[in-house]
Amino acid sequence: MSEKSVIGIDLGTTNSLVAIFEADGKAKVIPNTDGENLTPSVVNYRDEDQAVVGTPALHQMAFAPEYTVRHFKRAMGRCDESGNPASVFAHPDSGQIYTAERPSADVMRYLVQSVEAALGVTVGQAVITVPAYFQDPARKATLKAGEMGGIEVLSIINEPTAAAIAYGYEHAESGVFTVYDLGGGTFDVTILEMQDKNFRVLSTDGDRDLGGNDIDMKIQERAVAAFEAEHGIKITPESDLPAWLEIAYKCEMAKKILGKKNEASFIISAQGKRTVFNISRQEFDTLIAPFIARTRTIMEQALSTAGVKPEQLKDTLLVGGSTRIIAVRDMLTQLCGKPPRTDTKPDEAVALGAAIYAARMGADARLTFVDTAGKKVLPPRVNMIDVNSHGLGCLAFVDEDELNCMIIPPNTELPTTKEDAFSLRKPDQTEARIVIAQGNDDARPDECTIIGEVILSGLPCGLQKGRISVCYSLSREGTLSIHAKDTVSGISTSDIKPGLTSIVTPIAAG
Ligand SMILES: Nc1ncnc2c1ncn2[C@@H]1O[C@H](COP(=O)(O)OP(=O)(O)OP(=O)(O)O)[C@@H](O)[C@H]1O
Ligand SMILES: [Mg+2]
Repeated sequence: MSEKSVIGIDLGTTNSLVAIFEADGKAKVIPNTDGENLTPSVVNYRDEDQAVVGTPALHQMAFAPEYTVRHFKRAMGRCDESGNPASVFAHPDSGQIYTAERPSADVMRYLVQSVEAALGVTVGQAVITVPAYFQDPARKATLKAGEMGGIEVLSIINEPTAAAIAYGYEHAESGVFTVYDLGGGTFDVTILEMQDKNFRVLSTDGDRDLGGNDIDMKIQERAVAAFEAEHGIKITPESDLPAWLEIAYKCEMAKKILGKKNEASFIISAQGKRTVFNISRQEFDTLIAPFIARTRTIMEQALSTAGVKPEQLKDTLLVGGSTRIIAVRDMLTQLCGKPPRTDTKPDEAVALGAAIYAARMGADARLTFVDTAGKKVLPPRVNMIDVNSHGLGCLAFVDEDELNCMIIPPNTELPTTKEDAFSLRKPDQTEARIVIAQGNDDARPDECTIIGEVILSGLPCGLQKGRISVCYSLSREGTLSIHAKDTVSGISTSDIKPGLTSIVTPIAAG
């Protein structure tokens, strides 16, 4: 029997967690080496070879912000204007540029070390969670970060689905549920059916740039404006980073206080001046109303896609720290006609579900593994079917209009493989460039995200209809692989170039 354990990792924008499934049939969050269940997703690189992760890094942010990086999850899989992977950090001494994978890897390595130190086990494999609304490049970046962190990644799984697994595993309820997951950086909503530990996702939607951080920023804008109105000094990250960070921290605290009290206040001090800043619950609610309304619209859309009316929902499950905001709960009560469930462990459910799923996946991979007491773990009986959050097509001309020709529509059950046939446009054409677009049905190219391209070259000329076969496969994890073939010559390729921004489309639909 292997002495290795399998774990679930929730790699969050604000906080990350690790959990393990035990032989007693329960998943548990394992505290980090600082004794906390929630590890702030913050990394300090004063010593590049010795990354400091979590609360100590958060503290160092105050006096060494230039060596500290956070909120990097938002940049996962993103590219800058020139098509290169987006940088999240430039080391002040070495000049080394880091993409989001590096700090993500360091956070995950730290979580693994924490488990190993706390439990005296060796971690073998892990399941890592991602926002349901993550696109293919962000999913692949997460897999890469896991690898960089020395982790063998069994699978990635959508955060709301993981949370539903944790809830369903404990409560064994049946019916159609919504998981409303509002964290620090992302919003996901998933409609799913639970039946005796079988989970079938009906639809999913979200916004990968909507979370508690955006709400903090709104409060901060007001706080900074109040200080400027009194003293004529505009505090910005560039002009006074320590003051800016302190205000950011106080704004987040004020937001939390407004969940319990009708008013919050704090002192802003910068450059020898002071301002007392007050914010009432009513002002706060007005300030965040557009965010809440946006989550409502997205949830209504997801319900409509799933063909479910709000009143048909058995319950709405709250996940993510930002669901503690009263206005969120009020909106959901109004929309669904009853209050959402709060017994959902909003901070931990994602990691717990990932641990349960990891134990299940480990069993599928014929791993035998032990729990913290060295007992053999019997795999949990969970089954899960998820869907893709974004449609996938390729750009092609229909007459003179360039469109995204949908190959895999959103909310298709995974895994899936779909194929379509295209033609060359010009009689002298010897190359077919297949531009992969992620977006909604029939979306215009400028509304899609271009995530890569495949080029078939050295083709014999000819306008045979449908000669170029394009086949997309989405794995159970929502990652894409693609195969293109010219059926006339037999030339085929499966190369993908991620991050392409310029579009040249020499193929035609049909
Ligand atoms: N009592 C509270 N009231 C309002 N917001 C809260 C409260 N407690 C935590 N939050 C907010 O929840 C967010 C963190 O939630 P969580 O840890 O679920 O996010 P995350 O998993 O790191 O992010 P994501 O899932 O978006 O990647 C922060 O923005 C934090 O300010
Ligand atoms: Mg989260």
